[in-house]
Amino acid sequence: MKLLWALSALLLSCWRANASTAPNIIAEPAEVSNQTSAVLSCNLTESNLPIKGSHWTHNGKVIEESKSADSSSFMEFHLDKITYSSGGKYECVFLTEPEVKQTIEVKTLPHVYTYKHSEHGNEKDKGVMACMSHGYPLPTTWMWYKEVDGVNMAISNGTGDKFEIKSTPNKTTLTVNDLSIQNDIGDYICTGTNEVGSHSDRIHLRVRSRLAALWPFLGIVTEVIILVTIIFIYEKRRKPDEVNDDDDSGSAPLKSNSTANHKDKNVRQRNSN
Ligand SMILES: *[C@@H]1O[C@H](CO)[C@@H](O)[C@H](O)[C@H]1NC(C)=O
Ligand SMILES: *[C@@H]1O[C@H](CO)[C@@H](O)[C@H](O)[C@H]1NC(C)=O
Ligand SMILES: *[C@@H]1O[C@H](CO)[C@@H](O)[C@H](O)[C@H]1NC(C)=O
Repeated sequence: MKLLWALSALLLSCWRANASTAPNIIAEPAEVSNQTSAVLSCNLTESNLPIKGSHWTHNGKVIEESKSADSSSFMEFHLDKITYSSGGKYECVFLTEPEVKQTIEVKTLPHVYTYKHSEHGNEKDKGVMACMSHGYPLPTTWMWYKEVDGVNMAISNGTGDKFEIKSTPNKTTLTVNDLSIQNDIGDYICTGTNEVGSHSDRIHLRVRSRLAALWPFLGIVTEVIILVTIIFIYEKRRKPDEVNDDDDSGSAPLKSNSTANHKDKNVRQRNSN
């Protein structure tokens, strides 16, 4: 009988402990998807733990202005203008011992963008285009299109070694091999899709002819040839004068000699006077 009492007392205390260590947070709404604004709220129930305060976090970072020191078991956060940068994981945190918290996901369209809206490559070479994504959740699917007469034609990965697509959730790269002026110049579109929807950006690809790539080099070569020719002709023209010129320059010491002679003559002349 005593044993039974002890057992039931133990069971009861276990149940009690369970009840007090299982506070419940009612989060409203459970999730935000594709909304322009929202009010996130958390209601801490079934808890008799003392509350020393509360705050919200966004993607793991404490939102400073949401910090509160009051012991309220209800907290709210207003999202007035939801963009991709306000998407992510929000957490309401009640400062109890231990802390209790609950996550609310705010999902938006992914933000797809490129740093370079114009890309170029040389004929026969390759062209590389890249798009990035921000937001939550990141795209689960990436697609590349080429605009042909106003229609977006899907590009499939690895078609005859022509196209290579490499994608991670936050980046996609399209490589176009063996560039041709006839077929590859144009607008390319990258599209990232998550569970909320899709967003795209556009890149214009230019292809330069191999000759065009050579132009600067050919320019320099031409300049050098012209310069060498001019110098050569000039030198040839000068050839007859050159003998005199050489005499002139070679006569510098002679000149001083001749002045010396001159002086000598003067002296002699003076002497003779
Ligand atoms: C919090 O939840 C309790 C229990 O469900 C409910 O009685 C109370 O009204 C809620 N508080 C708010 C502010 O919604
Ligand atoms: C495209 O193909 C290449 C090579 O076959 C592969 O490494 C890459 O992961 C593929 N990309 C996609 C998006 O499937
Ligand atoms: C892209 O995602 C990877 C892994 O998820 C991460 O390490 C990297 O920093 C991210 N890059 C950018 C530019 O966000």
